[in-house]
Amino acid sequence: MHNIMVLNAKGGCGKTTISTTLACYFAGQGYKTALMDYDPQNSSHHWLEMRQPTQPEIRSIDAARSRTGITRTWQLHTGVETEVVIMDTPAGVTGGQLVDLFNKADTILIPVMPNVIDLNAVEGFIVELMRFAKNRLHGKRIAMVINRVRFKTASYQKIEELAERMGIPLIGSLRDTQNYAIAMESGLGICEMKQSICAKDKKQWQPIINWLHEAIPGKESVNSSAYSEMNGWQPEAKSIAIS
Ligand SMILES: Nc1ncnc2c1ncn2[C@@H]1O[C@H](COP(=O)(O)OP(=O)(O)OP(=O)(O)O)[C@@H](O)[C@H]1O
Ligand SMILES: [Mg+2]
Repeated sequence: MHNIMVLNAKGGCGKTTISTTLACYFAGQGYKTALMDYDPQNSSHHWLEMRQPTQPEIRSIDAARSRTGITRTWQLHTGVETEVVIMDTPAGVTGGQLVDLFNKADTILIPVMPNVIDLNAVEGFIVELMRFAKNRLHGKRIAMVINRVRFKTASYQKIEELAERMGIPLIGSLRDTQNYAIAMESGLGICEMKQSICAKDKKQWQPIINWLHEAIPGKESVNSSAYSEMNGWQPEAKSIAIS
């Protein structure tokens, strides 16, 4: 099982958008997928509730509040067959909570928007994260994604510089588009929307997907369902490590 956590203390940078998109992608590729929502706002969970039974199944796990009558371990149990867990996290994560979340992840994706406010916030967040992560990476992978890009502004370049300085790969940039709002409002992911509308976005996801597949073996049995016809978004075979 591989745990992908989407993490940044800054609010509104795209954590839920990226989490739901990834959950759709992996479920659509035939992975047993769970979406674990650590945010008390429960945005990922609400999005999941809008999905139709005909869409690839994504298991919902509410990690934000403790349920009475069951242990925390059982509450967070994803099921033995789960292959990929996407973890959506809340804004404002710091200190002990950050350490706790860090320990649960195999891969951490940090979305950041290219504006001066988010740039300043993410720098502090990454410094805190890397201070803790030092000597504790144990094979964990951390990467940044620039989200809601309109133009390559000075902030965009500063994010590139920050990533280089911190030694964190910058694996993709996603444009600012209504498509993500439409997807969020309809229980869909970009990969499930019409190619004519989302071709650009699917292309932008490709390097992110390829990077993730360096640690998550590809499925041989993809592309057999009607879902794949809508999908048209496959990882590049050459970058998938099939074990
Ligand atoms: N690439 C994008 N283009 C356009 N809109 C986007 C994009 N990414 C996210 N959004 C929109 O930005 C808003 C915030 O995104 P999202 O909820 O994913 O952020 P978040 O980091 O999860 O926020 P929070 O910290 O409150 O949980 C949403 O309305 C979402 O639809
Ligand atoms: Mg969110």
